[in-house]
Amino acid sequence: MKISVGVFFGGKSVEHEVSIISAIQAIHAFDRAKYEIVPIYVTKEGDLFVGNDLDKIEEYRDIPALLKKSRRVFLHREKDRSLLVRYPMKRFGGSVCAEIDVAFPITHGTNVEDGALQGYLKTLSVPFVGCDVTASAVGMDKYVMKALCKENGLPVLDCRRVYVKDYYGDRENAVARIESAMPYPVIVKPVNLGSSVGIGRAGDASELREAFEYAFQFTDTALAEPAISRLREINCAVLGDRESATASECEEPINSRAVLSYEDKYMSDGGSAKGMSAAKRKLPADIPPEVRQRVRGLAVETFRLLGCNGIARIDFLMGADSGDIWINEINTIPGSLSFYLWEPLGMSYTRLLDEAIRLAFKRRREESEISYSFDTNILAQFNAGSLKGAKLKGA
Ligand SMILES: Nc1ncnc2c1ncn2[C@@H]1O[C@H](COP(=O)(O)OP(=O)(O)O)[C@@H](O)[C@H]1O
Ligand SMILES: [Mg+2]
Repeated sequence: MKISVGVFFGGKSVEHEVSIISAIQAIHAFDRAKYEIVPIYVTKEGDLFVGNDLDKIEEYRDIPALLKKSRRVFLHREKDRSLLVRYPMKRFGGSVCAEIDVAFPITHGTNVEDGALQGYLKTLSVPFVGCDVTASAVGMDKYVMKALCKENGLPVLDCRRVYVKDYYGDRENAVARIESAMPYPVIVKPVNLGSSVGIGRAGDASELREAFEYAFQFTDTALAEPAISRLREINCAVLGDRESATASECEEPINSRAVLSYEDKYMSDGGSAKGMSAAKRKLPADIPPEVRQRVRGLAVETFRLLGCNGIARIDFLMGADSGDIWINEINTIPGSLSFYLWEPLGMSYTRLLDEAIRLAFKRRREESEISYSFDTNILAQFNAGSLKGAKLKGA
């Protein structure tokens, strides 16, 4: 029997479109002798759809028309089966559209990569590929991720976090706080977005205010950190889990501007639907063997520190002159799942997907050994009378 994989993509995220590209690439790379693929498109409103045309990129030029010929469903768990059930349900049976053995989120950004979708799947007990709730949430928040790295002695740039309310409550103070912590130029970015959305660079106080105000159009929490002037960027993916993890080849993305933009990442191929795999890069990165080894080592350490699972990509900043290396961010569901970083090491996209699914089932087996009930018999002590006004110790 084939394993049925529900590929989730889209969702309420600014990276909705990028996710469609990543997911459709993956859908065409699965080993069809082994897997049956159920594409599950999540609209920007969060509605789930299944259908025969959801795996065709050209259909997304007209999403309303695509949805018309697709079927709206909800995910339902019945005993140990994960079912996609037609919504609204038919009155007399026949409402189950598909059944999946495992969910594979190929989603980028808020609500879908940050632990929210993962929490939804976990609540329903649907096994899923990739990072669990905590690793996804920590990985999405650039500030929390850096704090965790710093606590564990991994190299990250010093940074300050600013909440939108505090900023507009006292702009002078917010700017003064950053100025006392770091020299200009400063980079301001939303803590929880990707694809270079909302990022700005400031050389003085007025540009710093502009940068915050720009970032706050997209987020309620921003981060300021020193801008690295002569910057090189190195990315490295990791595949594995807490027990064992391996690093991919390293790439050096090539940017045409000071800040690698959304266009650099996704549109450099004239808008053809190749996602991150079409971005301009040097692969392998042109770095000495000892730098490559350090980057790959740090990538695995970061992956394991966050408790990641499946495929993640860790992005580094490197001072072109100093050679200093800092962990910049982790993408717990990287664009194009970083398949192109494994090919130079002899691992095909098909095998990469296979491994990610194997790791999901491995985690499921390990979780099933954890007990979710704790026999204390506290309910036996209660009667209706004693519940009134009773306080639960430690609750
Ligand atoms: N501290 C920094 N100094 C210089 N450039 C930076 C710095 N942080 C980010 N950038 C530039 O901005 C781009 C996007 O920032 P990043 O932190 O990777 O956010 P995103 O999640 O949007 O990719 C980076 O690829 C890099 O080009
Ligand atoms: Mg980045």
